[in-house]
Amino acid sequence: MEGSFLKEVPVTNFRRGQAHVWTLRIDPDDNGIEQFREILSGQEKARLEKIAHERNRREYIAAHALTRLMLSHFSDVSAADWRFDAGDHGRPELTTRFRNLGLRFNISHTRGMVACAITKVDDIGVDVECQERPGRLADIAERKFSRPEIIFFASASEAERQKVFFSFWTLKESYIKAIGKGLVEPLDGFAFSLDPLGITFLRENGDADCWSFDLFKASADHLCAISLARPTCAPVEIIRRSLNWKDMAALTR
Ligand SMILES: CC(C)(COP(=O)(O)OP(=O)(O)OC[C@H]1O[C@@H](n2cnc3c(N)ncnc32)[C@H](O)[C@@H]1OP(=O)(O)O)[C@@H](O)C(=O)NCCC(=O)NCCS
Repeated sequence: MEGSFLKEVPVTNFRRGQAHVWTLRIDPDDNGIEQFREILSGQEKARLEKIAHERNRREYIAAHALTRLMLSHFSDVSAADWRFDAGDHGRPELTTRFRNLGLRFNISHTRGMVACAITKVDDIGVDVECQERPGRLADIAERKFSRPEIIFFASASEAERQKVFFSFWTLKESYIKAIGKGLVEPLDGFAFSLDPLGITFLRENGDADCWSFDLFKASADHLCAISLARPTCAPVEIIRRSLNWKDMAALTR
């Protein structure tokens, strides 16, 4: 599995308009995570020290190790050498030293899974969510979704509700992460449709055709969404991979 997975991924012909999204499952009894702490920077380790909850610590190590190994897989830079800066709203980017590589990325972590998405040049955002949430979904939808999304959610059958909720949630989160604004971007200013997947801008004249999206089940419990900018409106290719710890170990070699 580990050999075939690595051979399958086209390293040399990674081009603009292509995105890779890798997800990694984390089980509570995984003991393979700690070894990856070593490739994190001093800054990341300092941040890790401040995370009190063990589950969040493991997610942090896994997400940041995955990101470093993935960036290295698509370049000649060693995993431990990457350095990051935070943008205006906290979005991590590669420092100027690495900018000529044209690599862009985004990270997501949730209970039991982490994800990293990488592309060349263009904005990208990823969100992975465990599809369980305390509280009434309808109340959360009312607070977080735009009007067309609330109407669609309310009209979904009982059986479809949870799926619709997490579809909108992950897509919206991936979009506000792709543009780097996070929750500074008003969530009611844009609406997603699910079939076909697409965005409508409700306030500003954004060009919906200049975005591509992906939405998929990353495990029985997890949903993952990608937003990828395509300023030239050219077709894009989004390549998904599900990794395990053997793949991670193979990436360190
Ligand atoms: C901070 C935010 C960007 C993502 O928060 P989150 O829920 O913790 O989501 P994720 O785990 O998917 O993403 C966290 C990662 O995004 C990255 N990130 C941080 N700020 C970012 C920004 N402004 N833009 C893009 N990525 C950002 C970081 O890498 C972070 O991980 P790290 O701290 O380990 O480096 C923001 O969207 C937020 O606060 N969301 C809260 C949830 C919400 O209400 N969502 C509404 C959906 S309808």
